[in-house]
Amino acid sequence: MKDRKKLVVLTGAGMSAESGLKTFREMGGLWEQYEVTEVATPEAWEKNPELVIRFYNERRKQLMEALPNKGHYGLAELEKHFDVQIITQNVDDLHERAGSTKVLHLHGELKKARSTADPFFVVEIEGCELNLGDLCPLGSQLRPHIVWFGEPVPNIEKAARIVSDADILVIIGTSMQVYPAAGLLYYSRDEIPVFLIDPNATSVDYDERITFLRMGAGEGVNKLISLLAAHA
Ligand code: OAD
Repeated sequence: MKDRKKLVVLTGAGMSAESGLKTFREMGGLWEQYEVTEVATPEAWEKNPELVIRFYNERRKQLMEALPNKGHYGLAELEKHFDVQIITQNVDDLHERAGSTKVLHLHGELKKARSTADPFFVVEIEGCELNLGDLCPLGSQLRPHIVWFGEPVPNIEKAARIVSDADILVIIGTSMQVYPAAGLLYYSRDEIPVFLIDPNATSVDYDERITFLRMGAGEGVNKLISLLAAHA
């Protein structure tokens, strides 16, 4: 059997929009409801950890009630024909719950917490809530396992290596405005096919290499599956 092609999929908040989770920068999106600087920065954690914890507890509660959508399931199905690696900016676990086996999280994971004393001490949060007073074994407060604005993205080099090795690149549901994740596109080899699924314009619309599928993730992944039949 010949080696399966490496299909790398970069996903953002739009991937989970049809599961009922809000995106960030659209009208009615999360960053219209909340000030980023009040809930998603190290300074916010210093100033008002209670507010930060409450914000992520709410996100986690919504996630527990959400289900993967057709797009997530379609990407998991593609593992039958391709070596699929998902790189997601999303902190939800909907790719995993749909059955994708290789998922790299760039911005952390909502259902995990980590020690404020040791960044390598990461635990699953039981239930929906992390609370002030929940401590790691070293006695330090646990914080959400989220990469906040202004913090380094520990998985970015691994992601760049994966993208540079891709045979096909697919981008789904990200406005491509947040770096370094948005820069991953430029690590892909020039000659590979690149598809982008998003119902709206994004900041990479000028790129002539990209085949645009201007539709939502569910319909878009369905269309992608038929287009990829020619590439398997
Ligand atoms: P954005 O909110 O910036 O972009 C969401 C994208 O999803 C937009 O381009 C929408 O057009 C698109 N979209 C909306 N509905 C869709 C659907 N049904 N199907 C497909 N696409 C759809 O979210 P991200 O690009 O993911 O980081 O944002 C990147 C990072 O900024 C996030 O990971 C988060 C945020 O601040 C942190 O919180 C650290």
